[in-house]
Amino acid sequence: VCGLRSNRENKSPGSSPGLLHLEEFLERLFQWFANNRRDLPWRAEYAPYRVFVAEVMLAQTQVPRVIPYYCRFLERFPDVFALASALREEVLLAWEGLGYYRRAHHLHEAAQRIVEHFQGRIPADFRTLRRLPGIGPYIASAILGIGYNLPVLALDTNVRRVLSRVFGAGEDVDLREIGNLLVSHMPSGKARHLNEALMDFGALVCLSRNPRCSPCPFREFCTFVKDARKERRVRQQRVLLEMCVAVCCAGEEVLLTKSEGKLFPGLWGLPLREQDGEDPRAWIDALGKRYGFLPLALEECGAVAHAYTRYRVRARVLRVSGKRTGMLSEAAWVAFRELFQYPLPSLFRKALALGCPEEYQP
Ligand code: ADE
Repeated sequence: VCGLRSNRENKSPGSSPGLLHLEEFLERLFQWFANNRRDLPWRAEYAPYRVFVAEVMLAQTQVPRVIPYYCRFLERFPDVFALASALREEVLLAWEGLGYYRRAHHLHEAAQRIVEHFQGRIPADFRTLRRLPGIGPYIASAILGIGYNLPVLALDTNVRRVLSRVFGAGEDVDLREIGNLLVSHMPSGKARHLNEALMDFGALVCLSRNPRCSPCPFREFCTFVKDARKERRVRQQRVLLEMCVAVCCAGEEVLLTKSEGKLFPGLWGLPLREQDGEDPRAWIDALGKRYGFLPLALEECGAVAHAYTRYRVRARVLRVSGKRTGMLSEAAWVAFRELFQYPLPSLFRKALALGCPEEYQP
């Protein structure tokens, strides 16, 4: 492995640049961590459930944004039993605004399975964890390494970046190999410490765009400082998805439906057509028939946009005024002024800001 040595005796005098002993790396890293550890709410105590919730939230959302959600979620669902017995709507309400709602569905389902099949104990082995909904290799490793303090390293993007810069790993080097070597060299019982130290180092010093190299304890070894060309970042283009969203109004109420699309599966929200382009009238007519609504007038209100990790959505907003013709279980009619009580994705909140009739604007 380029730039990586595991035995102190092999160390050449003066350490040639790029050659870093694992023990030395761990020593410097832990020293840095002792002075810079972030005080985060999921580090106040280490129940595997708490780590599970935190990592699911953190998988696609930045730390500062997660903190208030995490605290509220833990207050509302303090353990796996509380979460498993909650209604799906309550879980989604606690998740509202955090985005990527599939995570909330999976977390809830995983909690139910953990209660049903494991007496409420979060499994402590990788393969069993991986069979639970929403648990990929990263979250499974974090639960083991941080929650259970077992010798496992969770390789998220930050940690990968730190290791590949410090140890000079290129495309040909498996970071997992470096991770395994590190774990085998760390003092026993330090897995949690190592995982958190690497995460914090990646978040505070070894930043992706403008790394703070001057206070970095690995500066003399780092391949990134030596050879900035080595790390070429490929910026992924987000795919643009054009959609159409309907604000169907009957008096002071608006129609909410349960989404069957891929963007918000199973979530209540405004009717959404996950494509755009054609005349929307046929879609509106079909909506009316399906959900017990007679459309009488249609108005274009402009468009809203929202960006997700892999795609951008642009949705045309249609205000459809009409009358209710029936009561169907798949539809919910909610007074505009009560909308804030429901978990609605940001895209729909933006659409409502445009499509809500003026007299009901908040
Ligand atoms: N990012 C992902 N997991 C994290 C954790 N446990 N602490 C801080 N940042 C993180």
